[in-house]
Amino acid sequence: MIAMDPDELERSLREDVARCENLEELEAIRVKHAGRKGAITALLRGIKEASPEERPRFGAEANRLKQLCETLIEEKRKALGGDMPPDLYVPPVDGTLPATNGLAGHHHVLSRVLRQMTDILHGMGYSPARGPDVELEYYNFEALNFPAEHPSRDLQDTFYVTDDILLRTHTSPVQVRFMENAQPPLKIYSAGRVYRNEAIDQSHSAEFHQIEGLYVDTAVSMGDLRNDIAVFVQELFGPRTQIRFKPHFFPFTEPSVDVDMSCFGCKGAGCAICGLTGWIEVMGAGMVHPNVFRAVGYDPDRYSGFAFGLGVDRLGMIKHGINDIRLFLDNDLRFLHQF
Ligand code: DAH
Repeated sequence: MIAMDPDELERSLREDVARCENLEELEAIRVKHAGRKGAITALLRGIKEASPEERPRFGAEANRLKQLCETLIEEKRKALGGDMPPDLYVPPVDGTLPATNGLAGHHHVLSRVLRQMTDILHGMGYSPARGPDVELEYYNFEALNFPAEHPSRDLQDTFYVTDDILLRTHTSPVQVRFMENAQPPLKIYSAGRVYRNEAIDQSHSAEFHQIEGLYVDTAVSMGDLRNDIAVFVQELFGPRTQIRFKPHFFPFTEPSVDVDMSCFGCKGAGCAICGLTGWIEVMGAGMVHPNVFRAVGYDPDRYSGFAFGLGVDRLGMIKHGINDIRLFLDNDLRFLHQF
C-alpha cells in the first residue's frame, strides 16, 4: 500500500519547507517526510507491493520525491544559515511584511510647545535666564511693585512656605533677579513652572508654565513691544496673525496691556476656538514700571523697557485643540501618543 498520493505528498513537503523558519524545524520536517516512519519512506517501501506493471512508475516517482526532499531540505538548510557559525547568522529580512508598530518615545507635547516658543525667542535675540521655583516674597511681589494689600498676595492664591518664602506665582521675579546682576541693554526670556493655589478644573491647574520676556535699553518704546509680540505670534500661529492691545493693569508695568491675536481658526470671523469673538487672548505685557527699575537700582529716567508674560499650557491648548489642562500632567499615553 502506498501511504499517500505522491502529488499530495510533494505539495505538503514544499509547503512545510517554505514555512520553515529555523534549523530545528527543518530537521523535524526531514524526519516527518524522509525519516524511518516518514511518508516518503513509506512510499519507497510500497514499491515492492505494487504490481509488476506499476512498479517502474512507482519506483521512479518515489525516488524522485526522495531526491526532491533532499534537495529542498539542503537548499533551505543553506538559506537558514546551516553552513554558518550560529552566532554569525542573521535571518533574512522580508521587506514585504507589514511594519510592526514600535512604541518609540518622544518629547511631551508641552515640552515641544515650550521649545518652539523659546526657539522663536532665541531667533529674536532673547537669551535665557533662570530663577528658582521656591522664591522669596520680595522677588515675587515686593520688587515687582505689588502693593501689600494686593489680592495676589493672599493665601488663597499663593502657596506660602513661610511668611516670606513661597512657590512663585509667575515667572516675573526672574526679571528682577536678572536686572540686579546686569546692566542694560538686556534682552532675556525666562521659561518655567509656576504655582497657584487654584481650584483645579478643565482650565485651571495648581502648576503650569509661563514664559517671561524682558527688554531694557535707553529708548525702548511700546512700538518695540508691539513689534516683538507680533513677530512672536506670527512665528507661532502663522504670518497673517494680527494682534491688538487692550488696556489692563499689572503692578509691574505701566501702561499695561492684554494682548489678543486674531483667531487662526476663523481668521477673525468667529468660531468655537475663539468663542465667536474672532480674537484670542495670548499674553499680558507692558512697559516696565519705574518702581521696578528703582528696586534693581536702574535710573528710570535713563532706561525704559518692556516685559511680557504668557501661559505656555494655555497657548499649547489653543494651538493643539486640547480642551483640558489636566491632560498635560496626567501622563495618559492615549493622550500623549497623539502628539
Ligand atoms: N506675571 C503676569 C501673570 O502671571 C504675566 C505678565 C503680565 C508678565 C504682564 C509680564 C507682563 O511681564 O508685562 O499674570
